[in-house]
Amino acid sequence: MTENQTLTVRDNRTGEEYELPITDGTVRASDFNKIGKSENEPGLAVYDPGFTNTASTRSAVTYIDGDKGILEYRGYPIEQLAEKSTFLEVAYLLIHGELPTKEQHERWVHEITFHTFVHENVKSLMQGFRYDAHPMGMLLSSVGALSTFYPEARNISDPDVRHEQVVRMIAKMPTLGAWSFRHAQGKPYVYPDNDLTYTENFLSMLFKMSEPKYDPDPRLAKALDVLLILHADHEQNCSTNAVRSVGSSQVDPYSAVSAGIAALYGPLHGGANEAVLKMLRRIGTKDKIPAFIEGVKNGDEKLMGFGHRVYKNFDPRATIIKKACDDVFEVTGVNPLLEIAQELERIALEDDYFISRKLYPNVDFYSGLIYEALQFPPEMFTVLFAIGRTPGWLAQWLELVDDKEQKIARPKQIYTGDRQLEFVPAEERWA
Ligand code: ACO
Repeated sequence: MTENQTLTVRDNRTGEEYELPITDGTVRASDFNKIGKSENEPGLAVYDPGFTNTASTRSAVTYIDGDKGILEYRGYPIEQLAEKSTFLEVAYLLIHGELPTKEQHERWVHEITFHTFVHENVKSLMQGFRYDAHPMGMLLSSVGALSTFYPEARNISDPDVRHEQVVRMIAKMPTLGAWSFRHAQGKPYVYPDNDLTYTENFLSMLFKMSEPKYDPDPRLAKALDVLLILHADHEQNCSTNAVRSVGSSQVDPYSAVSAGIAALYGPLHGGANEAVLKMLRRIGTKDKIPAFIEGVKNGDEKLMGFGHRVYKNFDPRATIIKKACDDVFEVTGVNPLLEIAQELERIALEDDYFISRKLYPNVDFYSGLIYEALQFPPEMFTVLFAIGRTPGWLAQWLELVDDKEQKIARPKQIYTGDRQLEFVPAEERWA
């Protein structure tokens, strides 16, 4: 690394040179604003739709090296966390920045366990949805509605108030998610069972029928716990950026997180695993794969579950999920779509179209197959993702609230429309 951490920019319009400091491999966009600025001209701006090369924050939550396929939460590799930790411990790690002591862990698990119930009016609110309401729509509305049940949550400058909302949200998300699932099935909502672990209780609220106590299969509970860990954070992705952007207005965290859920709802983000299953089902048999691949290469459609904005060699989460697939299928029997997925992956990974564009299976390529084996309908997949991502959204929100450098999010635009038109009243225009 050279001593001189600056960038010299010459503005060829004026011949003037500017020296901009380089910090942490970045230049400040606001420094460009000095370039070419005059009374009549605004300074230079940078144009970056989709923030493909713009850092919006400093963050110590999650590290990703997309080329090397590395994902770390607070410095711990995802492979180790998935194998040796639990979702609640990982949530603690993300929120607090370090692993808990025994006492901290016990207190944390106790706090989360005893905040799983929601106000009965939240239940009534959820029951008001149409019988076929998409569970993500129900989840994002009910999380947003929580802000009205906890009006103190808007006092975001108080660390104790912030902590209470963080606990509530991590605790209540499975309750709301499970109830949105039961709603679509016309089944009664199941109240939380505080004797069970976080993931077991979630399974109980999803699947318990008339038995006095739900008895979850520990292998399925573990696989679901691993899936939640894999989704717990992923630095500045679309939904986290939505949480931060909305949170930058200093709104309460329920409103900010419901914006994150809305972003996750989209098919290019959290909705991709649902799209993967639809695609596999549409392909139907292995002999149709080559024609499907040709269609993708001709630009007719995308190979869902492939490609990633950051991972350009492999998605480390996809590797762990493949292993979880084996564990789940041992209990549930193999999902017949697995064969098609594996063959599709094999053919795509040998095809120059995908190789040259660095398109590999992402976390969503196999997660849908597991969820389906666990008897979740596709509409629930994104809900599971949202439950897993909640600690990450909250860790990022907490970081935002304490970050003195952050301002209300307000990107610039390049205006391309008309100017100074003369308004003609309707009666004259239509005459
Ligand atoms: N199938 C076919 N071609 C693809 C795919 C795909 N899944 N993904 C990217 N490409 C092509 C693009 O058409 C483009 O080709 P071109 O250079 O000839 O124009 C090239 O690969 C680069 O793709 P971009 O769209 O520029 O990549 P970007 O980083 O913007 O998009 C994204 C990433 C949105 C994930 C994209 O790969 C995609 O749509 N994948 C399918 C949806 C999906 O699986 N999403 C889940 C992401 S993981 C998550 O959110 C948890």
